[in-house]
Amino acid sequence: MRVFLLSKLIISIALIIFNQISSNCEIFDDVKTIFIEDKLYCLGSLQFFYVDLAGISLDTDELVKESKWIDLTNIKPKPDNLAFDSPIPGGNKIMFLEEFASNFYVNTFDTTLKKWNINENVKILQPMKSITVFTEIWTFDEKTGKSYSLDDNVVIFDTINMVINYIASNPFQGSLSFYNKYAQVLVPNGQILFIGGQIDNEIVSMKPMNNLLIYDTINDTWKIVNTTGKTPEVRTDHTAVSTSDGRVIVFGGVSKPSVPALPHLSVLDTSKIPYEWSTPTVENPIGAFSGHTSVMVKNYMISAFGRNESNKDPTYSEDLYKLNVTDPLKYKWSLLAKFNYNNSTIGITPTMFGGNNSFASIQTKVSAATSSSFYEDVSRTRQKNQEIKQS
Ligand SMILES: *[C@@H]1O[C@H](CO)[C@@H](O)[C@H](O)[C@H]1NC(C)=O
Ligand SMILES: *[C@@H]1O[C@H](CO)[C@@H](O)[C@H](O)[C@H]1NC(C)=O
Ligand SMILES: *[C@@H]1O[C@H](CO)[C@@H](O)[C@H](O)[C@H]1NC(C)=O
Ligand SMILES: *[C@@H]1O[C@H](CO)[C@@H](O)[C@H](O)[C@H]1NC(C)=O
Ligand SMILES: *[C@@H]1O[C@H](CO)[C@@H](O)[C@H](O)[C@H]1NC(C)=O
Ligand SMILES: *[C@@H]1O[C@H](CO)[C@@H](O)[C@H](O)[C@H]1NC(C)=O
Ligand SMILES: *[C@@H]1O[C@H](CO)[C@@H](O)[C@H](O)[C@H]1NC(C)=O
Repeated sequence: MRVFLLSKLIISIALIIFNQISSNCEIFDDVKTIFIEDKLYCLGSLQFFYVDLAGISLDTDELVKESKWIDLTNIKPKPDNLAFDSPIPGGNKIMFLEEFASNFYVNTFDTTLKKWNINENVKILQPMKSITVFTEIWTFDEKTGKSYSLDDNVVIFDTINMVINYIASNPFQGSLSFYNKYAQVLVPNGQILFIGGQIDNEIVSMKPMNNLLIYDTINDTWKIVNTTGKTPEVRTDHTAVSTSDGRVIVFGGVSKPSVPALPHLSVLDTSKIPYEWSTPTVENPIGAFSGHTSVMVKNYMISAFGRNESNKDPTYSEDLYKLNVTDPLKYKWSLLAKFNYNNSTIGITPTMFGGNNSFASIQTKVSAATSSSFYEDVSRTRQKNQEIKQS
């Protein structure tokens, strides 16, 4: 894990140096975004900053000023060794789990106080496998203060009581660990939908978009449901967000490397049963993106970063776009904020390190070995995934 993060960092630094002489900037590769209050927090292996949307009316065409991109990498004291690529949303906090000698700790960035809270203990209710589980995406439930991540089962992190656990039900006997590159989204009825992605078990097979894995957070039950309507093409590296009336908006992704999945924008209506796919009218489309991020803010989906797969030589975007989702039948894109890397310090300080970027502070943490051959399979798969991710 650490070795992986380190090589990723070196690759990222190499890219930055390369990008000084290249117009195709890639500094926001694999950045995650979390919206808290009126700020969009952006986290990657080379950046921790927010774009301040306070006072911006999304209902107008107002652009965010470049002075509203605020770097947070220099707030001290700050923890060493953060895995910034798996932030856990927790109310007004952004959390990062750490494992050391089978104990779990959390480093928390309090967005209200703009302060770090370092190495708080986390209670474990049953043996947890290893820290590799925490390189996944986390989905936050505001109603309960719990964040969910899918490993070979769902991991629940109670961000209020600082307790981590697996869910009780497990009808799939671990087969889920081969499932990756899906989009996960919490819908208003309390279900987390896992959409698209691939099953990476010896051979890779794409998961059909009309057959969804669903975890019900209220009843702790799993199910697989079939959808109706016009099924979008299979995909990985896409995003999914949910509106308050139960529409899931799926944007971007690729059906194979560098092949944009069609349509670029699809909607799954979860307010009726069976859930139904449709393809809305899209005005002012921005192209086919992959590896981007999307969050819901009021009646807008804000999408940022990623690769523009519509170009023959895909370009990387550093900008924020908003999609007006007010009208369920007609959606409209527009630019929200443009990144100016001419005079910005954002993206030049590696976020994983404390104060002085000393490589000496990296600790090598070895995951606990388990006797089960199943877990060995899992770690082999993980390693394979990481190799793919690195290349
Ligand atoms: C978003 O769509 C709604 C409904 O169509 C419209 O009233 C509103 O003006 C749109 N917002 C922008 C920024 O265009
Ligand atoms: C969850 O449990 C409640 C109460 O037992 C029940 O009414 C509801 O239908 C269940 N929901 C699902 C999705 O099974
Ligand atoms: C969903 O579709 C698959 C493939 O068509 C089918 O085998 C399965 O029985 C369906 N499941 C349900 C619950 O209808
Ligand atoms: C993505 O590429 C397409 C094709 O070159 C272009 O029309 C579109 O404007 C690009 N999108 C962005 C956000 O730059
Ligand atoms: C950045 O600098 C270049 C070269 O000086 C200039 O052409 C470009 O317009 C600048 N970009 C912005 C967004 O100011
Ligand atoms: C970038 O330059 C402009 C114009 O000189 C200035 O107004 C702005 O504050 C600068 N932004 C940063 C982040 O330094
Ligand atoms: C930089 O990091 C090294 C290794 O952790 C430490 O010994 C040194 O005191 C640090 N220097 C500063 C200026 O923080």
